[in-house]
Amino acid sequence: MHMSEKSSTFAAVMKKLIFFALAAIGFAACSNSNDKMVNEQMVNGFMNLARERYAVREYADTPVEAFKLDSILEAGRLAPTAKNVQPQHIYVLQSPEAIAKINALTPCAYGAPVVFLVCYDADQVWTKEDGTNSGDMDCSIVGTHMMMEATELGLGTCWVKYFDPAEVAEAFELPTNHKPSFLMPCGYAAENAKPSDKHFSRKPLTETVTYK
Ligand SMILES: Cc1cc2nc3c(=O)[nH]c(=O)nc-3n(C[C@H](O)[C@H](O)[C@H](O)COP(=O)(O)O)c2cc1C
Repeated sequence: MHMSEKSSTFAAVMKKLIFFALAAIGFAACSNSNDKMVNEQMVNGFMNLARERYAVREYADTPVEAFKLDSILEAGRLAPTAKNVQPQHIYVLQSPEAIAKINALTPCAYGAPVVFLVCYDADQVWTKEDGTNSGDMDCSIVGTHMMMEATELGLGTCWVKYFDPAEVAEAFELPTNHKPSFLMPCGYAAENAKPSDKHFSRKPLTETVTYK
């Protein structure tokens, strides 16, 4: 092979190497910025949802679609619970009789077409040596998942503690091991529903967080 042939082969190989190196750098930069974009979208996605949610206290008559109820219940199913025992039991109150009954037991169902009655099973719940159990905590995480999924689906909710658990248990003939934790009305917000003043009042992190 002549010198000139050798040098042109060398140049061709170098060109290819440079081309592949540049392509690899470009791909890496691109996938890195895609990862960043996905992460930012995920963070903003949740934060937007958290900002959007408010306690809805006035509902439209529009029924909630079954597929949305399924999705809300599925979001609750995915929640973590102590020792993963999943002690929650959710009653979906939606028949006219059930809605009338719950309205008679609390002023806080707010005319919603669906009210979730979230209970925990006292026979299954993780119980500590000191006798305390994680039932309300487990239910709260399940409920928070449900609440945020409802928000994502364009529905309103309100967390409700203002009822007598014993009265509710009796009215709905719950098994004695099903302990009501909270209620969650759910439905489309009425046209003139709006957040209460409380919604806009949050303490600064300096009041609620301590780094040690
Ligand atoms: C544990 C808990 C219990 C609540 N109980 C009730 C209730 O019984 N009735 C009601 O109207 N709202 C109830 N709320 C809703 C709060 O008042 C409301 O979330 C809070 O004022 C902040 O407003 P926002 O949800 O619109 O941001 C409850 C909320 C929580 C977390």
